[in-house]
Amino acid sequence: MPLLFNNTVTGKNVSLVVRKSDLHKALNVMHGQIFGISKKINLALFGHGNVGGTLVEQILRSAKTIEKRKGIHLNVFALANSRKLLLSKQGIGRNWEAAMREKGTDYSLEDIFEFARQNHLENLIAVDNTASEEFVAGYFDFVANGFDLVSSNKIANTLRFDFYELLREELGKHQKQYLYETNVGAGLPLIDTIKLLHLSGENITRIKGVFSGSLSYIFNTFSEGDQPFSAILKDAIARGYTEPDPREDLSGNDVGRKLLILARELDLRNEFQDIRIENLIPPELREGGVEGFLENLPLLDKMFEKEREKQKPGHVLRYIGDLHGDLQKDKGQLDVQLVSVPGESALGQVKGSDSIIEIYTESYGAHPLVIQGAGAGAAVTARGVFGDILRIAEKG
Ligand SMILES: NC(=O)c1ccc[n+]([C@@H]2O[C@H](COP(=O)([O-])OP(=O)(O)OC[C@H]3O[C@@H](n4cnc5c(N)ncnc54)[C@H](OP(=O)(O)O)[C@@H]3O)[C@@H](O)[C@H]2O)c1
Repeated sequence: MPLLFNNTVTGKNVSLVVRKSDLHKALNVMHGQIFGISKKINLALFGHGNVGGTLVEQILRSAKTIEKRKGIHLNVFALANSRKLLLSKQGIGRNWEAAMREKGTDYSLEDIFEFARQNHLENLIAVDNTASEEFVAGYFDFVANGFDLVSSNKIANTLRFDFYELLREELGKHQKQYLYETNVGAGLPLIDTIKLLHLSGENITRIKGVFSGSLSYIFNTFSEGDQPFSAILKDAIARGYTEPDPREDLSGNDVGRKLLILARELDLRNEFQDIRIENLIPPELREGGVEGFLENLPLLDKMFEKEREKQKPGHVLRYIGDLHGDLQKDKGQLDVQLVSVPGESALGQVKGSDSIIEIYTESYGAHPLVIQGAGAGAAVTARGVFGDILRIAEKG
């Protein structure tokens, strides 16, 4: 940040006083602006599993085109998993997996901050593709060290509300951004849409939808035919739609978290405990290992068969999140539950493992804005994270 800025009457000279430690960084930024050199965005990526690994590949594949079209040079100077860190001033390349294996070192976050300082790296973005709560605790250090944040990890937005507020205060103080479009609906443009509607003064009155790809697939298939629930659940597991322990999906907690994130976008001060969640796992199967659970699936068959039979004709089952109540107040009502809806309704029409979200507002009246499409999967999620990176890169 400049300490003093001065330009002469002739308009030919500009003088800038900066701290010595900011000198190289300031020169980099000015040279970039004056000589039309691409703007360099320095990325530190955390997590290279399903989403993170796909993101690295997507960045490496698109970097040249982005530089040509937008004048933005994406440089991945740090890549880390829970144990190892790979640093490269010029950016990691196609051989990143081998490099990580061979050159990855033990690390602390301070090593990354020090590397960025030593090499005068500007336009820093930290990208969280982990599912780690421990990593989230480090967000404040990133912000204090000049990083913007992008995250597919939902944890920072679903901890207690005072943490949520404190993080935003810190971001404001340091003029940093935090984007997390993929937290709800993966690559679907949901959070940004809701944010803009809310910011522009539109009165959002209800948000309702199928938020879970795995539960979408399970109930869409279950409602179509007469297969037992257990057969469909096993098929969903085999297709990799569920978490390794499918009870994490069936508990409804993940849908609850997504609904909470949306509620907080509307400035509601809800906590996770406020959500009324219909847990689809019978109490006797909630404890113990996955194997034991999978052996007892006939119990679920009976339970869901009853649900299927008691519906009105032409109706289908959907597991939905519903944010409603007076959303102008401090807290909204958050319900996560199994419902029976007409087959021809928007929710009833959803297919495959798609997500569908209806946004009701005063201007849209009885006809909600509907956002629908693949709401899970590494490729679409990584693409959504990539979008957030570019949004910050273009603005910053
Ligand atoms: N898949 C989807 O459809 C989807 C959609 C929306 C959001 N998300 C979110 O995306 C995130 C990533 O999901 P994923 O499926 O890619 O998970 P994953 O395959 O399990 O990968 C997680 C990665 O994070 C690393 N990691 C864990 N703790 C870390 C720490 N403290 N510091 C640095 N790295 C750490 C892991 O490294 P190690 O190997 O060393 O443990 C691994 O590389 C999750 O938060 C998930 O909820 C996923």
